[in-house]
Amino acid sequence: MAFPDEYKDRIKIINGQLMQSFEVMDNVNLRAAMAHYPAAGGKRLRPLLATMVCEAFGGNADKAIPYGVALEMIHNFTLVHDDVMDEDDTRRGMKTVHHEYGVPEAILAGDAMFARAFEMVLDSDIDDSGVVKLVEILARSVRLLADGQQMDLDFEDRDIVSPEEYLEMIERKTAVLYSAAAQGGAIVGGASEQQQEALFEYGRLIGLGFQIWDDVLDLRSTKETFGKPVLNDIRNGKKTLIIVHAVDTMKSPQKDELLSVLGKKGATEEELMRAKDLLEAVGSIDYASRIASEFVAKAKEELKAVKDDKHRTILVGFADFMLSRKS
Ligand code: IPE
Ligand code: IPE
Ligand code: MG
Ligand code: MG
Ligand code: MG
Repeated sequence: MAFPDEYKDRIKIINGQLMQSFEVMDNVNLRAAMAHYPAAGGKRLRPLLATMVCEAFGGNADKAIPYGVALEMIHNFTLVHDDVMDEDDTRRGMKTVHHEYGVPEAILAGDAMFARAFEMVLDSDIDDSGVVKLVEILARSVRLLADGQQMDLDFEDRDIVSPEEYLEMIERKTAVLYSAAAQGGAIVGGASEQQQEALFEYGRLIGLGFQIWDDVLDLRSTKETFGKPVLNDIRNGKKTLIIVHAVDTMKSPQKDELLSVLGKKGATEEELMRAKDLLEAVGSIDYASRIASEFVAKAKEELKAVKDDKHRTILVGFADFMLSRKS
């Protein structure tokens, strides 16, 4: 069975704890807004990674589940707020939270989910020093994530962004939750400091590959398959690695044509498709895909820290899934 189907029982447990965690909410409207994305689907990659890494060091996957659920909760909270920022109307094939419930309620749902994540870690069946470390990782991750999301917004208003700046931005907005999943899983699994660091780096590198691939899917996928809008990164003027490469490589008049659509909120479907074709023609989408594969290849080198062959192979497979996913 291919990933993630072989984990469907574990996903059921994760989903059960996730959905149950909303029951403490007294206000039924807010509770519904919080549960909207978790109930709509999602791949559960971050909790799966935390449990897989925990097992790779001989730990019991169950011990890492509350931490994994906390990561999924934080991920979902950032999606609620991200969709407000990016003005997106669809996620996981459903209406976004702010489209269904309004922006004020989306802000509150995100806030409450953020807090709930910490309560879940505090309920973990691990020793106090482990809990303190996990809380520290989560707090740091969300702080960096906010920084990355602000960089993403700042770059919308800039004409030129360097590849280094782009990588710094996605490391913060996206890769932090993958490094947090892998590092936290290693801690719960009883890995050494050195092994924890290697797994942090593995998570960081697959996270970079994951976000670059997400940017590729924004152009090459369809709304039906992706479950979220396509071509909106162009409409929003996002400085993805694809755009950074194209702006650096293209010549007039094609470059002028691309720039006239980039960030044009009212761009038509036809204009967006034409911009996509220009990006394909100049090789920028292939370029970004190549860089994403390089990050994933580098991530696999970090797996030397995992001594058990079977579990190393599982984590190699997880890294490969980052770039084979279609949604
Ligand atoms: C989407 O993450 C947000 C990004 C960081 C690009 P996922 O692709 O993991 O979203 P779900 O959880 O499966 O919906
Ligand atoms: C993902 O960025 C980063 C976070 C959600 C923190 P995107 O804006 O590319 O994510 P999607 O494409 O909306 O899922
Ligand atoms: Mg978005
Ligand atoms: Mg965004
Ligand atoms: Mg995206």
